[in-house]
Amino acid sequence: MIYQIYPRSFADADGDGVGDLPGIRSRLRHLHDLAVDAVWISPFYPSPMADAGYDVSDYRDVDPMFGTLADVDGLVAEAHALGIRVIIDLVPNHTSDEHEWFRAALAAAPGSPERARYVFRDGRGEHGEVPPNDWVSNFGGVAWTRVTEADGSDRSGHDASALRSAPDQAGQWYLHLFDPKQPDLDWTNPEVVEEFDAILRFWLDRGVDGFRIDVAHGLAKDPEMPDLEGNWATGGPAVEGHPHWDRDEVHEVYRGWRRITDSYPDDRIFVGEVWVQAPEQLARYLRRDELHTAFNFTYLLAPWDAKGLHTAIDESIDALAAVGAPATWVLSNHDVVRHLTRYGGGRVGTRRARAATLLTLALPGGAYVYQGEELGLAQVTDIPDELRQDPAFARQDPGVERADGGDGLRDGCRVPIPWSGDAPPFGFGPPGTVPWLPQPAEWADLTVEKQEADPSSMLALYRSALALRRDLPALGDGTMTWIDTEGELLAFRREPGFVCVVNVGEAPAAPPDAVRGGTLLLASDPLPEDGSLPGITAAWFAV
Ligand code: NOJ
Repeated sequence: MIYQIYPRSFADADGDGVGDLPGIRSRLRHLHDLAVDAVWISPFYPSPMADAGYDVSDYRDVDPMFGTLADVDGLVAEAHALGIRVIIDLVPNHTSDEHEWFRAALAAAPGSPERARYVFRDGRGEHGEVPPNDWVSNFGGVAWTRVTEADGSDRSGHDASALRSAPDQAGQWYLHLFDPKQPDLDWTNPEVVEEFDAILRFWLDRGVDGFRIDVAHGLAKDPEMPDLEGNWATGGPAVEGHPHWDRDEVHEVYRGWRRITDSYPDDRIFVGEVWVQAPEQLARYLRRDELHTAFNFTYLLAPWDAKGLHTAIDESIDALAAVGAPATWVLSNHDVVRHLTRYGGGRVGTRRARAATLLTLALPGGAYVYQGEELGLAQVTDIPDELRQDPAFARQDPGVERADGGDGLRDGCRVPIPWSGDAPPFGFGPPGTVPWLPQPAEWADLTVEKQEADPSSMLALYRSALALRRDLPALGDGTMTWIDTEGELLAFRREPGFVCVVNVGEAPAAPPDAVRGGTLLLASDPLPEDGSLPGITAAWFAV
């Protein structure tokens, strides 16, 4: 199981309200007790933090907010000593606008080699005042920002926020599929390719075990830069021929990277963040000479019903088997509404999340856990607007319903973790720490400390399930065979001798004959004496 650490919100050693690398190090025991095989740590590089670190200004260092390079070395060494591998986040689609390359691009003239590392274009319209095309930012609004050109001013140390598009600015435009402070790199430029090869080697030489690749489906752009209108849904997913999502050219980048990781001793792996519509598209990234794994968002997006889950699981396994890649299963991360809330929240959401945990951890392949899901944390929906930091919040159209049904996007899944105590900061930082996002008072009941003392807690369920997953030869890699069931019941075998049964519906159901005479290993909620499976309950049996 790979555990995602969102460093700002995991543990804060120095009490500045933001989590850090020494904080992670101080909590490695929690991960060890959870039987974590590897951690994926979201970006900790120097960054102006316009997108919580996904706007990198130096790929070979650590932001002082998070620590130092020595802290990375210490963390990697200590994690390795505990048998935990370390995967770091690589952000190749865009840099920060405060990266030295982008500063140089702004200071240089149109057509210069400095500009050629990014996607600069002249505008349309009589005075170039219309963006080069109609592409939209993932965070809302136009995907282009206009710069000021040679006007005699000294642009060194320039704050690009001052260059946001304005009618009297006479310059070129640069592409940003995300925030204006995240200019897209031009991956047709060999200098960009070489730079990232060197960045990979920098971290591999330091002993990291792999990389999670941000926006892995976005690096290549159609050089013709066609408008989306009339051809593709604006803001739509990766579909055939799309000018900036899931283009064939990206695969060449990953072939090159794979040659690099293969040249290192031990297993060094990639996991791609690849948002595509169908598992078959995903599978193309997992051919033997490309990425090792990728997040399976088909499963994450599946509705809580037996048919939807069954279909998502089958499609995922079938598509990946065709390229010989292992499946992965993920329910939450720092970009989506926490699954307990997606599944309905409250008691129902909690019971579904518990059942989903046993389903997910029984499936063949790798599983991801996002920090806090093992505590049963829900999305926080009442963060005051002025404390929100997600750039998408500021860019969203106020007239449009919020993407997560009310809480204003992604801050709500990024609230710092409650470890101990009865009041904020709940052990997230030293006493007196004011977490960068406020923690709900109710989290007093969800701290690691409280849940460790309660055998019926979500944490206890995760620990039991993950310990079994580590011990039982049937779990983890391998195959599964569905058992015929009806209605809202799902059941499958893993060999040797394991059956997982999930009652997705509300009404009690009889478990399939396959578990008769078997031994109950673990259930997401208590099972009655009569042998039936209550609604919204999953159970594991040795048979
Ligand atoms: C995906 C990351 O997970 C998300 O947090 C970020 O905002 C975008 N990529 C842009 O880097």
